[in-house]
Amino acid sequence: MSSPCVSSSHLKNKSDYKLSSPPLLSDLPLREIPGSYGLPFFGAIKDRWDYFYVQGEDQFFRSRMEKYNSTVFRVNMPPGPWISHDSRVIVLLDGNSFPVLFDTFKVEKRDVLTGTYMPSTSFTGGYRVCAYLDPSEPAHASLKSLLLSFLTSKHEEIVPLYKSCLKGMFDELEDQLRGKGRAEFGPPNDVVSLEFVFRLFCDGKSPLDTKLESKGPSMFKKWLICQLAPLKTLGLSKLLIPIDDFILHSIRLPFFLVKGDYKRLYDAFYSSATSYLDKAESFGISREEACHNLVFIAGFNAFGGFLRWFPLFIKWVASGGETLHRELAKEIRAAVRCEGGVTLNAINKMTLTKSVVYEALRIEPPVLYQYGLAKDDLMIHSHDAAFKIKKGEMIFGYQPFATKDPKIFHNPDKFIGNRFVGEKGEKLLKYVLWSNGRGIDDPTMDNKQCPGKNLVELLSRFFLVEFFLRYDTFSVEIGTLLSDTTVTFLSLKKATTSA
Ligand code: HEM
Repeated sequence: MSSPCVSSSHLKNKSDYKLSSPPLLSDLPLREIPGSYGLPFFGAIKDRWDYFYVQGEDQFFRSRMEKYNSTVFRVNMPPGPWISHDSRVIVLLDGNSFPVLFDTFKVEKRDVLTGTYMPSTSFTGGYRVCAYLDPSEPAHASLKSLLLSFLTSKHEEIVPLYKSCLKGMFDELEDQLRGKGRAEFGPPNDVVSLEFVFRLFCDGKSPLDTKLESKGPSMFKKWLICQLAPLKTLGLSKLLIPIDDFILHSIRLPFFLVKGDYKRLYDAFYSSATSYLDKAESFGISREEACHNLVFIAGFNAFGGFLRWFPLFIKWVASGGETLHRELAKEIRAAVRCEGGVTLNAINKMTLTKSVVYEALRIEPPVLYQYGLAKDDLMIHSHDAAFKIKKGEMIFGYQPFATKDPKIFHNPDKFIGNRFVGEKGEKLLKYVLWSNGRGIDDPTMDNKQCPGKNLVELLSRFFLVEFFLRYDTFSVEIGTLLSDTTVTFLSLKKATTSA
């Protein structure tokens, strides 16, 4: 392994990985990993059908966890034949064993971003982009350092930029509510998310002022769907399930379907992201490789992440009801009044607001899966047993179970807005794992933690600030589209007091 893996920060984290470890892990009884992969081919198809059509994600894992009386077991993960060459995994469902997936000494993160298959590199200009690289590959360190350094340089600009992107969104939602009695959150969220990401990386330029015009969001969405289809379902009626299964899970959607869109996206970034690409050259990365990486960061990591995250976030804040909304509005308006505006200082004072963001990220993490290949024979520990994993076996963590582990979180299935407030609450941050790392750790070039971690948490807090400066409370209707949550506002009650 090359040097990037052996930094002091990494070693520090490594010893910290024993989350809520029982006093002596070595005292835990050694247990054979339960579960079976079934017959070759047929076992993988059966598990895929259980997962998508018979049981659904949660029940798929829950029923097996109960059957084997274990939070660690063997199963096949979709898509399986003919897309994955090997769908066998060892599942981790508790908060104790899960963090082994963050330990890049123990697991290899090469080409596992999407799990047991990897989309063709045609979707990324022929390059294996940063998110598919293991930290032992030198390109990972240079690409990730470039991004981290760029984001640090933009720190002060992030809130004002997001504020200006959000400006029209609330007016548009209100117009729709007045006209139709309901307002879909998805379309304005698409526009705001791309506007923000593009302007962040492209020296303030709007995608509307490029050849993308207003088509950027739909181009990115088509490109995303082609790569992620094997993990989705259209939710069709029973009779049409075989078609859904064949098209999405048995064949790969070819790149030529989106070739023209990708070229226009690439060209728009290439001609607009001047300072990012200049900086890349100073990091020894060619403009071309940096730009294909940038399209992926902007479109897959950031835009794709925001499309999934913000609807989930609103759904959970809505579930807190008027009482939570009133408390948030009170905290936000008082801090803004006291600081004389929406400053970083004011945002940092809002402890409930911060906690609500963490609680939503805990209860329904936007990215559900994490994968890693055992680099060597290794031992993992759930709360009540030790398990041996062999070199080369695929380890898979289903995060919503790990972050709703009843041995770590009291009332884990309940959205408790103030769960992370105060000293006791902050101690729980290390169990919030949404960023592919612990809530108290930072992304570095040596780990695989999301470099957008702080940015996402800050924007989410800022979103609440803008929202509750404007409204007292709201209600929504929740739906699903292509396995993602959709939100439609049914009411937005204007603020009766001001900051
Ligand atoms: C809500 C939005 C976001 C979510 C949910 C999200 C989630 C994640 C997750 C779970 C990973 C780890 C994937 C894995 O290896 O298993 C990741 C990695 C990554 N994210 Fe994010 N992310 C978001 C926003 C962003 C933003 C805004 C950026 C850039 C500005 C970004 C850039 C990246 C990159 C480059 C990686 C790969 C890191 C590496 O290879 O070490 N993400 N993200």
